[in-house]
Amino acid sequence: MGRFDGRVVVISGAARGIGFGTATKFAEEGASVAIVDLDEAAASEAAAKLPVTGDAKAIGVGADVADGASVDAAIERVVSELGGIHVLVNNAGITRDNLMFKMSEDDWDLVINVHLKGAFLMTKAAQKHFTEQKYGKVVNTSSISALGNRGQVNYSSAKMGLQGFTKTLGIELGPFGINVNAVAPGFIATEMTDATAARLKMDVEEFRQLNAEANPVKRVGFPEDIAAAVLFLASDEASYITGQTLYVDGGASLSRLS
Ligand code: NAI
Repeated sequence: MGRFDGRVVVISGAARGIGFGTATKFAEEGASVAIVDLDEAAASEAAAKLPVTGDAKAIGVGADVADGASVDAAIERVVSELGGIHVLVNNAGITRDNLMFKMSEDDWDLVINVHLKGAFLMTKAAQKHFTEQKYGKVVNTSSISALGNRGQVNYSSAKMGLQGFTKTLGIELGPFGINVNAVAPGFIATEMTDATAARLKMDVEEFRQLNAEANPVKRVGFPEDIAAAVLFLASDEASYITGQTLYVDGGASLSRLS
């Protein structure tokens, strides 16, 4: 008996990284899972690797979360192929880092659109099913960078924006049986952070070591660390929690939160 038996979970940006780690845990706990990612082939390939159990299914859906028509089609496809939708994890993300004076308008727009507008469009498409059935769970993906990070004014603004988005939807959707929460990961070893190492011209292992030393538990995080928190927030055990952002960062934010 899994915590998500009979549930349909949609995770954006889950062809790899944190999203894929989270999709894997949901599948292990009985859910049917839809991996929504930019490239349908990559999404389907990842879905085929998920350890689904019993009658549960996994599908890959190609969609751009920043495009309304693409998102609406993706959610409708999930509902028709998997028979409904109960959990939405807004995880898709990108970085386009630069100091503000060198940041282009395109890099501002792209990052804000994928994270913030993407979460808005996906949640809006899912909530009409959630409100009809008086049940739904939304987990957004913020970041420790919401607290400020040099070279990430676009990303930091989007990630703090997601915390406001989470609080406001907690208020609006609570009366309809819908919980909206967020996780704020610290440094997680994925292709995203490996790309940051490359941009800084640092060796990946050296970069991870540096980040491990920067938090109280003295290790980097892995997708499973985020998945565990996401599954809790999406579970019925967490039904009295809404509008919250849970930092999952080895304590790295402790010295920065007031
Ligand atoms: P990743 O780069 O490994 O994976 C991101 C996925 O999102 C990719 O599969 C990509 O194709 C997909 N994606 C990008 N734009 C998309 C779009 N417009 N529509 C649909 N899919 C799209 O990244 P990672 O590290 O797994 O990050 C996942 C989430 O966690 C992101 O929101 C990221 O900002 C956040 N995060 C990551 C941290 C880290 O240290 N890795 C720390 C804090 C937050």
